[in-house]
Amino acid sequence: MALKRWVRSALKTAVLQVPPVKRLVESRNTLLQENESLRRQRVAPVVPESGRWITSLDEWLARLAAEPDSVLSIADTLLTAGRNREAEVVLAAATLSTSGHLSRHMQWVRRLRYAKRHGAALAVCNAALVGDGDNPAIRRERGYLFFESGQLDAAISELDAAAAGFPDSVEETLLGVAARRALGRSCPATHEEIIAAYFKPETATFKAERFDPAAIRWSLERYGCALIRGLFPIDPLMQFHAVIDRNADNIGELYDAMGVPRGFNVGWPLYFAGTSPRSAVRACFRDSYPQLFDPARMGGVDSTPLPRFVFRRLLETGLNKVIRDHLRIPRLYTSAAICHIRKFVPEGMAWFGEFHQDNRLYSSDAEILTLWFPFNYLHGTMPTLEFLPVRSRSHFPCVSACGIDNALFDSRVLWRPQYQLGDGMLLSGYAPHRTVAEPQMKDSRTSVDFWFFASDVPAPIYE
Ligand SMILES: [Fe+2]
Repeated sequence: MALKRWVRSALKTAVLQVPPVKRLVESRNTLLQENESLRRQRVAPVVPESGRWITSLDEWLARLAAEPDSVLSIADTLLTAGRNREAEVVLAAATLSTSGHLSRHMQWVRRLRYAKRHGAALAVCNAALVGDGDNPAIRRERGYLFFESGQLDAAISELDAAAAGFPDSVEETLLGVAARRALGRSCPATHEEIIAAYFKPETATFKAERFDPAAIRWSLERYGCALIRGLFPIDPLMQFHAVIDRNADNIGELYDAMGVPRGFNVGWPLYFAGTSPRSAVRACFRDSYPQLFDPARMGGVDSTPLPRFVFRRLLETGLNKVIRDHLRIPRLYTSAAICHIRKFVPEGMAWFGEFHQDNRLYSSDAEILTLWFPFNYLHGTMPTLEFLPVRSRSHFPCVSACGIDNALFDSRVLWRPQYQLGDGMLLSGYAPHRTVAEPQMKDSRTSVDFWFFASDVPAPIYE
């Protein structure tokens, strides 16, 4: 009963303090009225798993308190039916009735952002500002929401507020500058100045034979990356490269047989670096299309030689513990469903791959860590990988499903290490990165994205 009184009071407070919520919450019986309206119109069941209609405000609040995350499926049902206002009311009420759980609310915001449900995400932010208190994490999410929806003035004020609340803020400051630049305003600092004051490449570079584990973890936390020099011996890399090249030789013929264009390039599964006969590798790839990365369709081919090689080196160097500690998991694992072997063939012109954060592709919450390394590499003549050396606490505004505007950051602030064959780059799923080719890069490069998850993966391959 106390909770109900408090929520009602907070809903009223929300009306006074956060103007957008006023539109959503007109009376303490709004939820019930909207529920009744939906029931009459038979738009969709409000409680998806039972199909039963909620009949009282008390029941609404009890349900939201007991199963807070169910609000996302309820909201999705409403939003899909075009009932945006009802969805926003339900989300605001759920946020208020679970106040004090800021990280949960930020998860909701990110998931709604993934689905481009900006109005709904903003409703959660607005209610969280009331229920959870004014917090820089909420201000940052509101800033990103405004940025994504083109409201740059509003974005600037939110990002400034967020930056003021975080010590050593960098992502909010960078975005605030990007918004000002887009509006033709003067900026307090350039991207170059901000990153020069924040990032020291030598503090993100380590030697595999001797390193301070705490320093690598600090680098991952701060910059979202750590370059490990000499992680792999050269000879095995060259052997893997020869195997991959043999399996991928004349790949265009295989693509013809699959009915996909010759430019088809989603990468190849781990078994391209395995010991199975070439004929079996190619038959498996052809027959598993379009579920190319479904481990259940990889019978008869061996995906494990490359993971065994990687896990052995991680164990020998002690990096496996660093990664486990960073991801807070007891045992490392990867999956053939996720790891991609890629070959980039430059075309003699400047080319940028999609600028993105891996976490945006797979999880809004549990951090992903990628170990990227090439099987052949010569710096300057081959396409390479570059990063914004920032481990975002969120997801930068996107201009597509997961792509960040290539022009958002001054390209001079991206870190493009001088890799050598044998190096490995540990990269947080919250660090923006992209593949890049320049006109003078004439040679092809083959590499692997070897991923570690702190969440469930299909058919895990353990260390
Ligand atoms: Fe990536």
